[in-house]
Amino acid sequence: MEWTTAKRYQKYNEWDADYLLSLQAQADRSQYQLHYHIRPSSGLLNDPNGFSYFNNAWHVFYQQYPFGPVHGLKSWHHMQSTDLVHWVDQGIALKPDSKLDSHGAYSGSAKVIDDRLFLMYTGNVRDQNWIRHPYQNGAWMDKNGQVEKLTKPLITAPEHVTEHFRDPQILQHGNQYYAILGAQDKETQTGKIALFTSAHLTDKWQDLGYINFTNDEMGYMIECPNLIFIDKQPVLIFCPQGLSKEITEYQNIYPNMYVVGEKFKFNSGKFTTQQAAPINLDDGFDVYASQAFNAPDGNAYLISWVGLPDVSYPTDRENWANCLSQVKKLSLKNGHLAQQPVNAMRNLRSAGQLVRTEKVIDGRQIIEAHAGQQYELKLTLAANQTGTLHLAGNHTVSESLRLNFATGKDAYLEVDRGHAGEQFNTEYGTTRKISLPENQVLDLDIFIDHSLAEIFVNNGEHVMTLRFFIAPENDKIALTSTTEILNYYGTFWKLTDM
Ligand code: FRU
Repeated sequence: MEWTTAKRYQKYNEWDADYLLSLQAQADRSQYQLHYHIRPSSGLLNDPNGFSYFNNAWHVFYQQYPFGPVHGLKSWHHMQSTDLVHWVDQGIALKPDSKLDSHGAYSGSAKVIDDRLFLMYTGNVRDQNWIRHPYQNGAWMDKNGQVEKLTKPLITAPEHVTEHFRDPQILQHGNQYYAILGAQDKETQTGKIALFTSAHLTDKWQDLGYINFTNDEMGYMIECPNLIFIDKQPVLIFCPQGLSKEITEYQNIYPNMYVVGEKFKFNSGKFTTQQAAPINLDDGFDVYASQAFNAPDGNAYLISWVGLPDVSYPTDRENWANCLSQVKKLSLKNGHLAQQPVNAMRNLRSAGQLVRTEKVIDGRQIIEAHAGQQYELKLTLAANQTGTLHLAGNHTVSESLRLNFATGKDAYLEVDRGHAGEQFNTEYGTTRKISLPENQVLDLDIFIDHSLAEIFVNNGEHVMTLRFFIAPENDKIALTSTTEILNYYGTFWKLTDM
């Protein structure tokens, strides 16, 4: 298929139903397919949208282009769960089928209002000259999952922004509604977060200017801004594009970052923070456009797109791309975000096997000879050791996903996907490294789902998320070290499909 612009924006009802079914079947057969994460029913998945709790269930939608592994005409695909782990496909909820979203139902959020779920999203509209007109739209979803769009936009782009104005997050504070949006300032061509308010929800939205959270320039555009509160402290999560690496170091093409504040004043947009610069939300390769919300159970939950804009993945040739992360529970620890698996993830576990220091054979300690590629491994490595943990290794572990660690002086953890099967996106490097507290044990909670790894470090103080594409028969977990026996203990669980 040649992905011309015309093809990418062909209307959904002009595609052949059998073609869509063949794409779904092809994705189902993929050796790299995920089994306990949200993945596209077909085609390409990107941002999570409308993450919420409504009508006794959790909801999340994903940006989808169903007809191929490219960014084309987007819709919202609806998933529902009772435990944040087992997700049931509800089909497409928002199609790009109106004048206000003719070129894509782009990202947005959801909020429960009375007995319905209000969806606020960006309608991407292009005119005959292919000039973009972003509309911020509303829609209601009822308890039966029926969606009804509003016929007038809630917000049109103000004078001071360019055509890059999207991804509204709707919030409520007192009797007022607020929306924060990703924007590019027209005069300075820099990334901003715009703030709007309305007392009425479905009309009379007023521009409150930009959120004031930094004096630094946040690149040329900010996408997917997201405000949550943890222990009453505001946390702003966002994706600055083109951010100078002198402000915060990052290696991915575009980072997903956050700032923790002391106070947020809704009416002025003043976000007070002691933090000098934004922090990387994830220390792996592929997290972007994460969305969090404050749930009625008192927790803040986060879910991420595992995929990056402008990056191709090996599954493109199988006509599907990307997935969502597992849901992560957020907390604050010394001014930083910590992210942890939700308790219900344990429901995926089969009987656990204890693992502990073993004999070295051929320079390797085998932790699991037949681990497969769908498991959780919790491992505590003693202080003052260096070595490599190999995941999804072949017999000699010449091929594996590697976690190189040092837990003594200059302690670090480095994930290396450079020997992990098919290589891709290598121009942005094949390793990611974090430094660790010196002379301390290292706690790892590792989730492997075939082509996805989520590595929770020291109780979620860091998370390293990445895709890798290795042969399915590579099923060994092993430790190697140039020096001595490695001391560790932990538990291994095979995980069931969701
Ligand atoms: C981020 C993003 C958003 C936009 C959506 C379109 O990945 O570019 O800014 O709303 O994807 O799918």
